Amino acid sequence: MNTEHSRRAFLASGGVAAIGAAGLVGSAGAGEVGAFSRRGPGGPVVISSGNGIRAVERAYQMVINGADTALAVVSGVGIVEADPGDMSVGYGGLPNEDGVVQLDASVMHGPTHKAGSVGALEDTLHAAQVALKVLQTTDHVMIVGDGARRFARAHGFPAKDMLSDQARKVWLKWKMNNSSRDDWLDESERDWNPEGTQVAMGKGSESAAFTYGTIHCGAVDGGGDVSACTTTSGLSYKIPGRVGDSPIIGAGMYVDNEVGSAGATGRGESVIQSCGAFAVVRAMESGMEPSEACVHVLRGIAKKSRLQKRLTGNDGRPKFNVIMYALRKDGVHGSAAMFPGAKYAVADGQGSRKVACASVFE
Ligand code: GLY
Repeated sequence: MNTEHSRRAFLASGGVAAIGAAGLVGSAGAGEVGAFSRRGPGGPVVISSGNGIRAVERAYQMVINGADTALAVVSGVGIVEADPGDMSVGYGGLPNEDGVVQLDASVMHGPTHKAGSVGALEDTLHAAQVALKVLQTTDHVMIVGDGARRFARAHGFPAKDMLSDQARKVWLKWKMNNSSRDDWLDESERDWNPEGTQVAMGKGSESAAFTYGTIHCGAVDGGGDVSACTTTSGLSYKIPGRVGDSPIIGAGMYVDNEVGSAGATGRGESVIQSCGAFAVVRAMESGMEPSEACVHVLRGIAKKSRLQKRLTGNDGRPKFNVIMYALRKDGVHGSAAMFPGAKYAVADGQGSRKVACASVFE
């Protein structure tokens, strides 16, 4: 897409004399042309993936009370990180194939364009808060594995066993069902099974199949400053050390304070290979509406997935889902999934609610 052409088309279609006008949202440098005119309602607005209704409510209240947007989104997702009922994030998240919970998280602060992230972090409740410490207290962007765990301890985050009893049981069920040729006996293979075990599945774990649940949260304040974060326990039963898209700046999360923020949930490998969040922000910059930008990027992901046969059904559709979320600097937001039925959470002057995501396929 020709960005300059689209930008001119965007400004023309908005019917706004944007250049140099009061109400310009983009902060252009000396002699440059501002990229955006204010068309949306403005902030504060907070959005998140569908599992974040309490997160957007908390973050919105914080922003209304004057908190920085980065502090607000990290605090908001902290509710879900601490909730054992969500088996895709934080405590109670499904573990890797060894039964160890490894967390990925990232945060980006629009006004300074600083980012922080952690990958494969163990034994720590609030991965997004550790990512924020990376952003605030180091000259680095990403710290992973044992280094991330030690970094968290250095900052006073207490050690915590992140495997809930329910997540352990779901993992064990997966392990027992893995193969009829190993030494782990599932319920149907046992010679004696007096307990008749029934494992209750939690949110983010509809079956013992692989799952990719995550929370993304983005916020814009009344002055148009934007921040976002993404936090997850990642792909269930992953190979130990696997890092998904969530901690990768530009993949699972990205902010450009002159444009807005974007994030992703779903199959991280596909999002990484398409620089998903970065692509959504650039698509918004070129003039696409937030939901249109999400659809545009998802279409690209679906197209590329056809190059890997095992990822695509006979109908040419991906066998996996990805959901992209976008929040523009002027408060306009959108989201899209590969398939219908997904919702995302919003908090703004109208209250908090869930909104249907657009979809690429019917
Ligand atoms: N999107 C989360 C993950 O793939 O880990």
